[in-house]
Amino acid sequence: MAKYVINGGKYLEGAVTISGAKNAAVAILPAALLVNGKCRVENVPEISDVRILLEILADMGAEVVFENGTVTLDCSNVTNTCPNPELVPKLRASYYLMGALLSRFHKAKVALPGGCNFASRPIDQHIKGFVALGADVEETEDYVNLTPGPEGLRGNRVSLDVESVGATVNIILAACLLPGQTIIENAAKEPHVVDLANFLNTMGARISGAGTGTVKIRGVEKLEGGSYAIIPDQIEAGTYMAAVAAAGGNVMVQNVIPKHMDCITSKLQEMGVKVIQYDDSIRIISDGKLRHTTVKTRPYPGFPTDMQAQICVCMSIAEGVSRLTESVYETRFFGYCTELASMGADILISGKTAIVSGKKKLNGAQIHAHDLRAGAALVIAGLAADGVTEIENIHFIERGYERIVDKLTAIGADIKRVDD
Ligand code: EPU
Repeated sequence: MAKYVINGGKYLEGAVTISGAKNAAVAILPAALLVNGKCRVENVPEISDVRILLEILADMGAEVVFENGTVTLDCSNVTNTCPNPELVPKLRASYYLMGALLSRFHKAKVALPGGCNFASRPIDQHIKGFVALGADVEETEDYVNLTPGPEGLRGNRVSLDVESVGATVNIILAACLLPGQTIIENAAKEPHVVDLANFLNTMGARISGAGTGTVKIRGVEKLEGGSYAIIPDQIEAGTYMAAVAAAGGNVMVQNVIPKHMDCITSKLQEMGVKVIQYDDSIRIISDGKLRHTTVKTRPYPGFPTDMQAQICVCMSIAEGVSRLTESVYETRFFGYCTELASMGADILISGKTAIVSGKKKLNGAQIHAHDLRAGAALVIAGLAADGVTEIENIHFIERGYERIVDKLTAIGADIKRVDD
């Protein structure tokens, strides 16, 4: 099994370029199932979640070419509405195949999704949406089977009980080619929801309000092929910003949308990090000496749950006592706090809140990644620590971070990927 070996304590310097957003890519690629013709999607990150999704689409009969960050995808000849049940559970976002297939073929049989298991991740809101659009839903322990109900499929109003990214995206996908208007209330506002809507609108869909709490989809008869470039990854950018904050350095983080980073930027500034925003890049300057702060994760535009673990590492070496409250996934602390404790961090978890008493330094240790973002946080901890850190289970990290070793090495980190 491969692992990362990090010799910590190096000052980070230079520039790092952020890849296309994982969570936009994994929504946009299945959305190509709705398009009658060739889609060219640029700025697609070369990560394992994307590779598996493309394998699923190719297995269903799509023509797929992935070269130099650009995917050319033609799903015109797809007829299979039951994607490979061996591949589907390999990632979370395979649930988007349900909405896309329902919209185009009016039926779908899709195995239950897998992905990072840091919390219970129900899909009841996705199902609620499909039912509102007129689908009959059969759910078993292994798959979800969608067929048209007695009154057929058509647009409708859906009010989500929770602001769910996945349910918002899935209902947008399902509604695109159905007759009538769909209105999603309490919709998620994340940048990747907006990116998906922009992609679909470029191909001829009629979606308005994405990025607000109310999204309206007026069904169209068909979507035509076209070109689209995915937005930069907010969480990858935030991860490199946190890495520089914790390890110390002066790094330009390039290819970002600074507005998407506001919440992360202001927390790092509170912790004493210098953050300078430009049009499409952000400079981070840190001497590694951080101040305590308080963070509560929230749906966008709040502080992202996907940055919880990375900011926790910064807190664990900040002067004073920080409080970190998780309000999206309650059990998300468990995947990494014990690993950080073995590096010397002092974290007390009390319900939804971690109370983090900062230490001057963490020490290198042998640790394990338990999921994608927790794994990235351990990389940051290794970069900031004294001594050598070895991280196992790195396949979790490579699910979502493109060429992380190369990018960190280019800014002065001492990190190697070693095959045991
Ligand atoms: N929820 C329900 N029922 C549902 C759906 C969600 O109760 O049917 C709850 C969840 O349990 C959670 C909250 O609603 O408490 C929000 O979940 P959401 O549906 O927004 O999460 P998701 O769509 O499954 C996406 C990202 C995650 C990210 C969350 C929150 C993708 C593929 N995944 O998951 O990203 O943590 O939104 O922002 O877009 C990651 O990138 O590492 C990652 C885990």
